[in-house]
Amino acid sequence: MLQGDVGLELGGRIAAALRTALDVSITPEEALIRPSGRAGVDYQCNVAMSLAKRIGRKPREVAEAAVEHLAADDLVASTEIAGPGFINIVLRDDWLGDRLTTLLGDPRAGVPVVDAPRRFAIDYSSPNLAKEMHVGHLRSSIIGDALLRLIEFIGHEVIPHNHVGDWGTPFGMLIEHLLDEGWTADGAQTYAIADLNSFYQQARLKFDADAGFADRARRRVVLLQGGDEQTLALWQGFVDESTRHFEEVYQLLGISLRREDLYGESFYNPMLDETVTELTAKGLTEISDGAVCVFPPGFTNREGERLPLIVRKSDGGYGYPTTDLATARYWADDRAATDLLYVVGNPQAQHFAMVFAVCRQAGWLTEKHRAEHVGFGSILGSDGKTIRTRAGGSVKLVELLNEAVERAGAVVAERTELDAEARASVAHAVGIGAVKYADLSSDREKDYVFSWDKMLAMDGNTAVYLQYANTRILSILRKAGSRPAPGTPVNPADPAERALALALLRFPSAVSAAVEGLAPHRICGHLYEIATAFSGFYERCPILATNTPEDVRQSRLVLAALTSQVLTLGLSLLGIEAPERL
Ligand code: ARG
Repeated sequence: MLQGDVGLELGGRIAAALRTALDVSITPEEALIRPSGRAGVDYQCNVAMSLAKRIGRKPREVAEAAVEHLAADDLVASTEIAGPGFINIVLRDDWLGDRLTTLLGDPRAGVPVVDAPRRFAIDYSSPNLAKEMHVGHLRSSIIGDALLRLIEFIGHEVIPHNHVGDWGTPFGMLIEHLLDEGWTADGAQTYAIADLNSFYQQARLKFDADAGFADRARRRVVLLQGGDEQTLALWQGFVDESTRHFEEVYQLLGISLRREDLYGESFYNPMLDETVTELTAKGLTEISDGAVCVFPPGFTNREGERLPLIVRKSDGGYGYPTTDLATARYWADDRAATDLLYVVGNPQAQHFAMVFAVCRQAGWLTEKHRAEHVGFGSILGSDGKTIRTRAGGSVKLVELLNEAVERAGAVVAERTELDAEARASVAHAVGIGAVKYADLSSDREKDYVFSWDKMLAMDGNTAVYLQYANTRILSILRKAGSRPAPGTPVNPADPAERALALALLRFPSAVSAAVEGLAPHRICGHLYEIATAFSGFYERCPILATNTPEDVRQSRLVLAALTSQVLTLGLSLLGIEAPERL
């Protein structure tokens, strides 16, 4: 779907032409309009080949029929049939110019709002509270946040839910450790956890070395699950304390997850019994090795044996899968979400596939629901292995993000006349932007190599390249004295102007591709294309030179202003700031 896109509009004209000429009906998408890579051609239409077969005619005949009826079009300037029946299309300058004029000051940069808004429930970030958040959760937070912004922008409702791991056996040990460290059951919390990881490790060490402690921890788990009030209060204290650590990271990252978006595993705990009872009542469960299981059709191991989703362990306890069944049931049913997205690493692909399959069997997800695991790869170090600190531990997010800001500070310091305060805020925008963009600009399903030099490079597909391009444009606009007025005519006469114009007009289709594929890298790639087209334009087409005629200067200023507008909007949809100066 090329919504709001010139290509789609062109597809509509081709469809109309074919209806008149050949009495066939196709959708604008089926017109197969693609941007052309050739000089002097704007778009290529590939409809003739696919349609010819369908209606039993020669491709060239189909192409000729379409072209003949396009002649008097206000959008198409000229056409040419190439090869077996490709149609090369050049758009009219005045049409392009008018379109650009209308876009000036349009806060949506031409991106339409959907006709039928849906309700998305999106699970992202979702760290485990017993441990500090690490780079593995970085991707989920960054990708989830960008998807939320994109999907919301096109007009859907999006409800984020942070599925934190806040329940289960580790909490017995953590609570006992807190008590040892001076917390009291009446809520007098005199001890603050400075570092969640080492707190967890200390508890773990005691658990392994001290049988008395291990006993207390086990009893504490039973109390917790039994709903003992004091234990719940201690647990809540621990959850609050660790949530503060996560909020620090969200704030640094500029991610909008709030406390009210917390829907941890504990939230679904009261629904687990009912969830399993319902599965059993529907005849979907079997007992296997003492555990209650569902065997969704189509899931087998290498030996061809059916794979179980264990919904109740043989000891009577519930695990991760049951919680996710309850989660999907809750969002689809109680919260009437139509689209369930889970931004979680690739290793959990099978887990989600089985959960969704069971939910469909149970009727909790129906054909009106879409459930999708938005998987992603790992972040690798330069050695090609999962990224580690020098000491060998997993990298902590706060440290990594602080380092990003520090390094960005050094990059910015080299080329700026800003004062210290402005520099700090720019360093933040550039550093955090670099980390986010490095993540978002690669195909999420693949691994990527984390490299400071690459992500902070002033050239190439990086955040700082786009941020810098934008500040250069803003400086041109400042030098021009005033921004181009609404309604200023645009004439993209030069090929470089035209290339930039077409790239700007394709922004809506980049947005729709990104939403459709849940693929923020489609936005990155497109913004990079725009910035590159701008620099080609700027090299060839002087804007402020004294011999540039006034109307040309104004027209070019519109192109510059639109470029800044689209870059800023695009970056904001990725959750990245665009500073005014660098
Ligand atoms: N806490 C889990 C982890 O760190 C991720 C949870 C993802 N969401 C879910 N609904 N299972 O691996």
